[in-house]
Amino acid sequence: MTAVHRAVLEAGGPVLQFSRPVLDSGLASEIPVIVNLFGTAERVAAGLGVSLDRLDELGAFLAALRSPAPPEGLRDALSRWPMLKAALATRPKMVKTAPVQAVVREGAVADLSKLPVQTHWPRDAGPLITWPVVITRPHGSSPQDLSCCNAGVYRAQVLDRSRLIMRWLPHRGGAAHHRSWVSRGAKMPVAVVLGADPATLLSAALPLPETVSELTFAGALGGARPRMVPCKSVPLMVPADAEIVLEGWVSPDETAPEGPFGDHTGYYNPAEPFPVMQMSAVTHRENPLYLSTYTGRPPDEPAIIGEVFNRLALPTVQAQIPEIRDLWLPPAACSYRVAVVSIEKRYPGQARRVMMALWGMLPQFSYTKMIVAVDADADPRNWDDIAWVLATRMDPSRDVMILENTPMDYLDFASPQPGLAGKIGIDATTKIGSETTREWGRVMRGVAEDQAFAADLVARLMPELGA
Ligand SMILES: Cc1cc2nc3c(=O)[nH]c(=O)nc-3n(C[C@H](O)[C@H](O)[C@H](O)COP(=O)(O)O)c2cc1C
Repeated sequence: MTAVHRAVLEAGGPVLQFSRPVLDSGLASEIPVIVNLFGTAERVAAGLGVSLDRLDELGAFLAALRSPAPPEGLRDALSRWPMLKAALATRPKMVKTAPVQAVVREGAVADLSKLPVQTHWPRDAGPLITWPVVITRPHGSSPQDLSCCNAGVYRAQVLDRSRLIMRWLPHRGGAAHHRSWVSRGAKMPVAVVLGADPATLLSAALPLPETVSELTFAGALGGARPRMVPCKSVPLMVPADAEIVLEGWVSPDETAPEGPFGDHTGYYNPAEPFPVMQMSAVTHRENPLYLSTYTGRPPDEPAIIGEVFNRLALPTVQAQIPEIRDLWLPPAACSYRVAVVSIEKRYPGQARRVMMALWGMLPQFSYTKMIVAVDADADPRNWDDIAWVLATRMDPSRDVMILENTPMDYLDFASPQPGLAGKIGIDATTKIGSETTREWGRVMRGVAEDQAFAADLVARLMPELGA
């Protein structure tokens, strides 16, 4: 299934349904598996409630959400961004009965082995739930208060029929909530939502400002109040229209080795301890669907989602560093480890300032190992342009900046220390003022009309020349 999914994703193909997946027992599952939901940028944008060409508007809206004090006051921001108003006004609708609770299995009959959870890669430790939306809340909060709830996508290894491993990395919302329960020695209620609606799935994966609840935001994207229902066995609320919900408790002290699993870097992560969830109930729709994906060396669905999310982040970045023209994080470099930034260059040292501002600005850039700064006349999404400016505008003895002992993804095994590594900034912009003492080259450009004439001429001549 992973191989078929990868092939269809590479071909830009549709969402797939595997109708009768085979379980470990050899029997066919009654629950079909859906993959490739976010296999194209168009479908990611649709999941966010916009077409691809309106992504920039949504990005500007996100920038407004982050801005602490809009210049002309909140009223002005509200009038400029009607969606912001909708987001702030959206209150979830609490329902008492829900499609996701059409079937309820509590206690021993809540059995994970009935789900068609994929084992994706040859050396994976076992079945892995790859699209869970994990809902948690901090100790002392009210189950009804969705503003304190966190929804994050954290892969979950199936340990046995009733236990899962919660792989929230330490800086994630789920991990912070767990720490609040651990400090009181209490077990934490958790709901793992499978097959949430696309807006909820994407909101849970988006690095939203901490003040914005993912569940409220999903409602704003969908343009409707999110419908939530109380869980059957834990004090939490879940989306009423999801396919399947796994309810349970995460122990304050029990951990289990998670992995190894193939990851979005293209390597297997080593096994590491993470908290264990003991399931108390499974609820699902009549005839539910199980949503899955694989993670692996790009392209994979997270890489496609990452590219769209990076476009959404551009207005937020430009609000703080206005001279940035464009920013590209090549998906092939795992969506965040390498960045190319183009700037309107105006003063000496500007490229270094921009690179340092980027590293310090959003948490997601602290793992960007390498930034290449180029002028606005180079397209950061075009490797030919990047190679040309690196070859002609950059001197390694002057234009390379190396930082030491900066934060790094601890999964990056190339760093000398886990979680601590170097960064490289390469200034491939035109050197101006005191940056150079030499006369700089002048960019050659042909005459536009000549080029248009030539292109037309060659297009007409090619068939005659037998090409
Ligand atoms: C398919 C997929 C799998 C992911 N797996 C994990 C994971 O295992 N652990 C993790 O900490 N983040 C994982 N992420 C990233 C988080 O979901 C993402 O950073 C999210 O913004 C975290 O939300 P939070 O800030 O509320 O914790 C995954 C994302 C996707 C799209």
